[in-house]
Amino acid sequence: MQWLFDYKGKRYLDMFGGIVTISVGHCHPKINQAAHQQMNTLWHTTNVYMHPKLYEYAEKLTSKFPDELQVVYFVNSGSEANDLAMLLARVYTGNYDIVSLQNGYHGVSPYCMGLTAMSTWKFNIPTKLGLTHAMVPDPYKGLFGGSNCRDSPVQALRDCSCPEGSCSAAQSYYEQMEETFKYSIPRGKVAAFFAESIQLDNGRPKRGRML
Ligand SMILES: Cc1ncc(COP(=O)(O)O)c(C=O)c1O
Repeated sequence: MQWLFDYKGKRYLDMFGGIVTISVGHCHPKINQAAHQQMNTLWHTTNVYMHPKLYEYAEKLTSKFPDELQVVYFVNSGSEANDLAMLLARVYTGNYDIVSLQNGYHGVSPYCMGLTAMSTWKFNIPTKLGLTHAMVPDPYKGLFGGSNCRDSPVQALRDCSCPEGSCSAAQSYYEQMEETFKYSIPRGKVAAFFAESIQLDNGRPKRGRML
């Protein structure tokens, strides 16, 4: 459910249900009940074997998707999902290069570690084959932008010279992306672009400070 307790019993309202790829809260009775029921029926199998629950879940999911998205494939984790997404995009497009955004977190499987662009989650092994990180468009703490650029109650502390309601930072970030394509991507062709749906799940370190 919605409460989280620390080791002293202090209660917090959990605004995103654990880490961001999990959003079902903590021990919600409905979810516990469904999990118990499934464990009493069949608790270990794989998706190469057919079980009605897989189909029920797939149908429920696809009923919420746009018409052109009607195929699902279940995996165990976000990293596996991203590994598979990279593979599918490369096979489908015939292109190899993939662009993701600086400070993005996409998992730490060897494949995903290259996609992730945060040094605290990276180790010195070869992971970045065909993966390029572009500047993240972050008017709150990024290189460009200030208080007039951000349409949000949470405002950047610095001012900017843009007239109210207009944002030159957007253009500057766009130009950075163009430069990424011009200088880092062979023939400007990519298989995929990855970005977190809520940008910077990592938070953002203060500019100039190395973690
Ligand atoms: C945005 C995002 N992508 C991918 C992942 C990786 O998921 P997992 O830890 O299940 O491999 C996470 C995990 O926190 C995430 O927050």
